[in-house]
Amino acid sequence: MKRIITGIQPSGNITLGNYLGAIKNLLELQNQEDVELLVFIADLHAITVPQERQKLKQNIKNLAALYLACGLTPGKTHLFIQSEVPCHNQLGWIFECNSYIGELERMTQFKDKKAKQTAGVSAGLLTYPPLMAADILLYDVDYVPVGEDQKQHLELTRDLAMRFNNKYGETFKLPEPYITKSGARIMSLVDPSKKMSKSDPNPKAYIALLDDINIAKKKIKSAVTDSEGTIRFDIENKPGISNLMSIYSAMTNLSIKDIEEKYKDSNYATFKEDLANIVGDLLEKIQSKYKYYIESNDLDLILNSGRDIAYHLASRKLQKVYRKVGLGRN
Ligand code: AMP
Ligand code: TRP
Repeated sequence: MKRIITGIQPSGNITLGNYLGAIKNLLELQNQEDVELLVFIADLHAITVPQERQKLKQNIKNLAALYLACGLTPGKTHLFIQSEVPCHNQLGWIFECNSYIGELERMTQFKDKKAKQTAGVSAGLLTYPPLMAADILLYDVDYVPVGEDQKQHLELTRDLAMRFNNKYGETFKLPEPYITKSGARIMSLVDPSKKMSKSDPNPKAYIALLDDINIAKKKIKSAVTDSEGTIRFDIENKPGISNLMSIYSAMTNLSIKDIEEKYKDSNYATFKEDLANIVGDLLEKIQSKYKYYIESNDLDLILNSGRDIAYHLASRKLQKVYRKVGLGRN
């Protein structure tokens, strides 16, 4: 049995890029035999930068409902909220005390986020990676699916685990990163040289999973292409249509070659119409399940059960760690 964990930040507006680049992968992992998947909403990580109370609360709940709507299945995946399992903060502190300021200051994401903060940089922004290490190491996991940008944090997680094991004796299992397969990097619909991102100021650049379906279809139909008019994959010279072909391929599992063959006598309008319908069908399916979860009592029951399972695993590990470090009386 392989155990896998991943955390997701509760920011609003999950996009088709997130779905094809990250969520779809999780669904594939979930559906493998002999895999136990833990997925949590990293709300403690979210407050490293300023958050509005109401909005944060809403984002946490919406994200949980959205992940379930996308196909995470309660019996197979344990879905929980990070702040509801306090062992994360508790082990996080121990890792903070075993991290060096210098190594934390070297983290690329810290440097990037620090540069963007206008209202002061919180200490939490610096100590976020030891908390992330705790998220992972509490559960003796084998793999951690993350985007490329989190690879450095995962390396630090392994360093912290080794450091602790050397100092206090074998305690933590070393996790492996599970970086998303290439080919699923979805680009902006208005500027295909940029990643499709929920923070894009132009909403036409991305498709949000909760977009109105007609609007989403229109976004595909008006996506930037080129004047050549043939449906051919060529990232260099035809980045717009190539991006739409990547989306088509990721949605249908048809290869790029199959798509070229299928549309060799078609024009962009026909291709875009088909793709708009494929994306529209997915959004429709997700949105109707989302509506169910957001209005149903099931969401709370699922999150309670995920929390209890996570707490059971995490508290045993934490107790061991406290004993080894010499904390308290036991
Ligand atoms: P973010 O929304 O940047 O926090 O990323 C959350 C997850 O979604 C990460 O695993 C990213 O790699 C993935 N992701 C975000 N945007 C895209 C995109 N445009 N194409 C593919 N994957 C993406
Ligand atoms: N840092 C991750 C991100 O920004 C989210 C995260 C927090 C995470 N804890 C984690 C991912 C543990 C994997 C495992 O996307």
